[in-house]
Amino acid sequence: MAEAVESFGTPLYLYSRAAIEEAYGAYDRAFAAVPHRIHYAVKANASLGLLRVLRQLGAGVDVVSGFELLAARRAGFRARDIVFAGVGKTEAEIALGLDHGIMHFNAESEDEIRRISALAVRRGGRASVSLRVNPNIDPRSHPYISTGLRENKFGVDIALAPSILARARESAGVDLVGLQCHIGSQITDLRPLGEAARALATLSRRLLNEGFALEMLDLGGGLGVDYEGGQSPRPEALAAEIVPALEGLGLDLLLEPGRSLVAPAGVLVTRVLYVKESHGKRFVIVDAGMNDLLRPALYQAYHRIETVGPAKPPSGPADVVGPVCETGDFLARGRDLPAVSGGELLAVRDAGAYAFAMASNYNLRPRAAEVMVDGGELRLLRRRETFEDLVRTEE
Ligand code: LLP
Repeated sequence: MAEAVESFGTPLYLYSRAAIEEAYGAYDRAFAAVPHRIHYAVKANASLGLLRVLRQLGAGVDVVSGFELLAARRAGFRARDIVFAGVGKTEAEIALGLDHGIMHFNAESEDEIRRISALAVRRGGRASVSLRVNPNIDPRSHPYISTGLRENKFGVDIALAPSILARARESAGVDLVGLQCHIGSQITDLRPLGEAARALATLSRRLLNEGFALEMLDLGGGLGVDYEGGQSPRPEALAAEIVPALEGLGLDLLLEPGRSLVAPAGVLVTRVLYVKESHGKRFVIVDAGMNDLLRPALYQAYHRIETVGPAKPPSGPADVVGPVCETGDFLARGRDLPAVSGGELLAVRDAGAYAFAMASNYNLRPRAAEVMVDGGELRLLRRRETFEDLVRTEE
């Protein structure tokens, strides 16, 4: 870590290739008994170097924007290994997917199916479409990342799906290839995922009986990570919940994990700038802020923070805060930390997912560099932004 910091400075995102390989391998082995495809959810971390690692492992991708699609292609994914999801695809994005010849779209409304069909017809072809269904199941996660409840904007009500699909079947430009659901993210109680699998399997069975030529069932992502450092839920446990529901369907299983593949593989390394105490409260001011890691500010998310180097005993609670001019700019609050002083390094754990991916230039701060530890070597994936990078698009 110290060597990476010496070469590339702080704040710095550091990823372990071995950890990504291990996480992917665990998924692949857990579902070995059924025909399956693992489509990494690019939104978790879209850096090309990381995408290339997943491609080499044999993953497909789940993209949610035209640029994620282009990033996947740049990283070498074949078009047929790309599924295109998202509740608000623009015409230009659908056209891009069609022009690249992606595997299929996950459509989220009847309106969208019509749009995809029309654009496919205009190009003289057909599009493969899977319908995202909202099964009204509570994933028991943070409200901002719960997606499978009736009041959420995602998918179509499971009760309406058969009639929507019956009408979609008549459309000139669409082949219906399957159903999809994704009930939320950071799910640690796996029972709701099993419940969703059973609901979608039941619906798939009914549709197959009605003559729909479904090929696959996509159960989304969502497997959580134990940010406190305990044992995260394992892909084998997920398989035990959902594989029995698929029995006899004859459909390929598709999964779209993001966080569980890459979160534990990353740390955010930050340097302590100053320490100050006031009214008995300790503030550790570091050089990474909410623009680097938004999760604590946005979801009150917990990330372990460790000193780098020889272990030191805890010395009481501290707020670990960034340089951004907002009280919401914190990485941790009331955290029992050892005594630290200016110049020391801290490692913020489980920062491989939804960390760099949600970084911004707020306060005109450059986005951090990203480095991959690969077989003992340090590989720079992305250099730190410069001032010129930040003003380049201004007229
Ligand atoms: N598929 C769909 C349709 C999704 O919307 C998502 C995540 C995934 C797959 C991947 O889910 P995962 O395996 O990563 O849980 N920024 C938030 C998480 C947002 C998740 C959005 N959708 C966070 O930092 O916790």
